[in-house]
Amino acid sequence: MKVKILIANWKMNKNLKDGLVLANAINKKITNTKSKKFIILPSIHSVNYIKQNIKKSILIGAQDCSPFLKGAYTGDVSAKMIKSIGCKFTLIGHSERRIYNNETNKLLLEKVCRANEAGLKIIFCVGETIEDFKKNNSLKVLKKQLTGIFGTNYNFNNLIIAYEPVWAIGTNKTPQIADIKKTHDFIKLFFKKNYKFSDIPVLYGGSVNSQNSKEIFSLECVNGGLVGGASLIAREFIKIYDTL
Ligand code: 13P
Repeated sequence: MKVKILIANWKMNKNLKDGLVLANAINKKITNTKSKKFIILPSIHSVNYIKQNIKKSILIGAQDCSPFLKGAYTGDVSAKMIKSIGCKFTLIGHSERRIYNNETNKLLLEKVCRANEAGLKIIFCVGETIEDFKKNNSLKVLKKQLTGIFGTNYNFNNLIIAYEPVWAIGTNKTPQIADIKKTHDFIKLFFKKNYKFSDIPVLYGGSVNSQNSKEIFSLECVNGGLVGGASLIAREFIKIYDTL
């Protein structure tokens, strides 16, 4: 059975105390099993604090990592540092970073390399804008975002892809189920064709909530979800996890 994964992306929300309260509330009610896992991505400042004070062990990750190994890169946090504070995962290529921080494929490739060298598992985000969606360019955009990022000898067992249409993030809009199926199938086929890897987990992200998650997760090609807003409310995140 393929493992189902639910990821909470807290973005730039929650201070130390509130983050710990939220993590504990979630952790009290749900447990990782062999077939179902949840991962929390707090802001980097609180990872260590949550790890040290949480009542039960938890899978935790960072929301980003530096493209550089170490040195004079003010404000950056290296993949190795992220690993050393107990993170097993890092998110790379979130559309908010592509948009607000002008992150390009070239830069993302460096981040992927650093995370890989540090032994972090990567959650790599892709997704089209509303303009591309309207022009029927979604698959073309996804192909562009995935091309040239992973080498042929990359360990694909350490990779999760998150499909997040930019227009669905924080908008309460989600694609039609048939469109989610089409994009997820396309991503899976991309890895099969280009890297002979047929088992890539693909998560859906963008306005996932407890009302729509059951239908989205019922698709076989959807291996779980990446949740923003709804992951900041413990009972909502738990409800979503229950539909996984
Ligand atoms: P929302 O769930 O708030 O739409 O955010 C999705 C997201 O960007 C997760 O990475």
